[in-house]
Amino acid sequence: CHIEQWDSDDPVPRAELLKKVAGIQGLYCLLSETIDSEVLDAAGPSLRVVSTMSVGYDHVSLEELKRRRIRLGYTPDVLTEAAAELTVALLLATSRRLLEAVDEAKSGGWGSWKPLWMCGYGLTGSTVGILGLGRIGKAVATRLKPFGVKKFLYTNSAPRPEMAAAIPAEFVPLEELAQCSDFIIVCCALTPGTKGICNSRMFSQMKDTAIFINTSRGGVVNQDDLHQALASGHIAAAGLDVTMPEPLPTDHPLFKLKNCVILPHIASATWSTRNAMAVLAANNLLAGLRGDAMEKEVFL
Ligand code: DGY
Repeated sequence: CHIEQWDSDDPVPRAELLKKVAGIQGLYCLLSETIDSEVLDAAGPSLRVVSTMSVGYDHVSLEELKRRRIRLGYTPDVLTEAAAELTVALLLATSRRLLEAVDEAKSGGWGSWKPLWMCGYGLTGSTVGILGLGRIGKAVATRLKPFGVKKFLYTNSAPRPEMAAAIPAEFVPLEELAQCSDFIIVCCALTPGTKGICNSRMFSQMKDTAIFINTSRGGVVNQDDLHQALASGHIAAAGLDVTMPEPLPTDHPLFKLKNCVILPHIASATWSTRNAMAVLAANNLLAGLRGDAMEKEVFL
């Protein structure tokens, strides 16, 4: 292949992308690039395959791809373990107030041992609700089980009995998930159906001791509503690996809350996982260009 490469870890500037895609047959992209009609028009009719180095593909306009008969590759499975591991780490950091505690230890806030100081919430005997039980949700649940979770609930657009049986997890409507869970973990894809699904309605149904964790996409959450729920003490704390926008501006009100832990979208960031994602995305692209079956393709 002849390759035009944006040789930087920083996202390719939009103008550069629009210029360089003209006449290409295959496009290898990241989740930081919006692949819409503007990019596809700029590429022109030669474009046959888009391959994204991500499991999420909400940055790609599926309708436009379908209309133009362009195939799409993506990278599920290879990041499941890393994403699940980080989700557990974020949950524990949030529920056991690790960042606050480290700050206190460093800044002189650590006085004599006090019975109620820095208390958080534990997983033992808890109910964990998974919003979007798929590969990653299941892997999170599997990792949380040994912590002594009493019950797993999940909600999806439809029950997934085979996936749930292995945990086991009970299918419930979103309202019940919100009301009954001590921890809510968002693992669903961002789709028109899940956009803003975590909003004031959901937060108002949650326990005031509940912990909210999101490692899927920021667009699933109404951040103003989340801020309100956290600032008013309506829910106990939130841990976010994803926000809207990304990066979240450093003066964003969520950063000012002690009960909100925000990570810069690092769920899949282990060396081996990112390498596996890169290789899979390249193989998908090459297979698509040859007209072969891709290892992981989104069927449009
Ligand atoms: C993805 O792949 O969609 C994750 O958000 C980052 O690895």
